[in-house]
Amino acid sequence: MAIVIEAKGLRKQYGSFTAVDGVDFSIHAGECFGFLGPNGAGKTTTVKMIHCTSPVSAGELYVFGQDVREYPREIKARVGVCSQDNDLDPDFTVRKNLTVFARYFGIPARLAEERASSLLDFMGLSDRQHSRIKDLSGGLMRRLVIARALVNEPTLLILDEPTTGLDPQSRHQVWERVRMLKKQGKTILLTTHYMDEAQILCDRLVIMDYGKILVNGPPAELVKAHVRKEVVEVWGYRPELVDHAREKGWTFETDTDRLFIYTDAAEQVFTEIASKHVCDRCTIRIAGLEDLFLSLTGRELRE
Ligand SMILES: Nc1ncnc2c1ncn2[C@@H]1O[C@H](COP(=O)(O)OP(=O)(O)O)[C@@H](O)[C@H]1O
Ligand SMILES: [Mg+2]
Repeated sequence: MAIVIEAKGLRKQYGSFTAVDGVDFSIHAGECFGFLGPNGAGKTTTVKMIHCTSPVSAGELYVFGQDVREYPREIKARVGVCSQDNDLDPDFTVRKNLTVFARYFGIPARLAEERASSLLDFMGLSDRQHSRIKDLSGGLMRRLVIARALVNEPTLLILDEPTTGLDPQSRHQVWERVRMLKKQGKTILLTTHYMDEAQILCDRLVIMDYGKILVNGPPAELVKAHVRKEVVEVWGYRPELVDHAREKGWTFETDTDRLFIYTDAAEQVFTEIASKHVCDRCTIRIAGLEDLFLSLTGRELRE
């Protein structure tokens, strides 16, 4: 499969601070590749180097086989970017934000109008095309930023936290559109804080922290390789259960009032707890990406 992005030992320094600390990854044509990580992990910095808006400090980075240091113009022409902040032009209407943006790519006015119409339709914005940016909700702005990223008909689409802060309906609409774009054959790079989003959309993903990639692979395989199959959740546990879990050598974790046991033999653990211990509630669930994410990056707050 053709490789669209290849990074080797990629680094970014801001002065003496290392934001991206020697990462290796490759993204294949037609896949949706995820970047997950706590705030400050280095996701946006990596993305900015890919679309040539932030210079590489060290290492190699190729997009469409071209070195980002040598071919920024060529690369930018083929990439669409939905940046993390809604950097729309407040002086223009919804439609004009698209047509003016098209000019930067040298797209002729008539073609720009045609593309604007079809993109407004695609993102469900046609009836808001004459609205001012300040009158749009967060969800509408996000949809417009995605529409704008598509103006130059990019083969690689970069979505930096496309659904952060959106209501559930808007999130699902964005997911649906991302799926449609993937079906059209676009390569998609997505950063997100939402594990369900990554699980639904990403063929492969990395989890980053402090500028480094911790794991890289298809979500289900990563969960299987790094977390046990199931999680027994005990709500309102008593201290005796912690001692018991320790004696048994179970892999477990606690928060305020819950105890989580990561296991491949959930039913056995469940039965043992139910027969010997008092608690408010005990449930079994399949381990997921969030379990992996928290086990790798911890529960402490960031930034
Ligand atoms: N222009 C900049 N100058 C100095 N430090 C920066 C700059 N941009 C980002 N950083 C720092 O680099 C780190 C990674 O930031 P970023 O890539 O935005 O993380 P993420 O997108 O994963 O939240 C953070 O600690 C951030 O404060
Ligand atoms: Mg970011």
